[in-house]
Amino acid sequence: MRLFNKALLAVTTVALLSFGAQAEGDAAKGEKVYRKCKACHSFDAKARKMGPTFAGILGRKSGSVEGYRYSKAFQKTDFTWDEATLAEFMLAPRKMVKGNKMPFGGLRKPQDIENLIAYLKTKAE
Ligand code: HEC
Repeated sequence: MRLFNKALLAVTTVALLSFGAQAEGDAAKGEKVYRKCKACHSFDAKARKMGPTFAGILGRKSGSVEGYRYSKAFQKTDFTWDEATLAEFMLAPRKMVKGNKMPFGGLRKPQDIENLIAYLKTKAE
């Protein structure tokens, strides 16, 4: 049953995100969601936090921040961070990149993910 719920959630998230125009995330709410990431990720390209910087995250190749020591799992990835890959990762980080070292289990609510992405977009401008 749990598995079914997760699958359903994944489908809902993808559906919500593919209707981008109708279901725009709220960046102000997304800033609050970002508080959950803040301890480990900043928008400062030079910051040395536990996680890689979010500077330029949208459009960036996975596992590509120079000087950051990624896990082997992340070093092996080869995709680009966009709305779809970020949504997939936030929903189930350990499932999408098996064996990664991020000590954060992801976000449960599709709405939070959408809002967070809207916020990340404002930082990309
Ligand atoms: C407790 C620390 C911590 C928290 C909280 C955290 N992360 Fe991470 N994150 C990491 C670490 C460490 C990595 C590197 C993982 C690896 O190398 O396996 C990472 C990697 C990532 C990556 C991959 C970046 C890249 O350069 O490829 C993304 C995207 C990401 N996190 C998003 C988030 C988001 C969004 C949140 C908040 C909702 C969040 N993380 C919360 C520690 C954290």
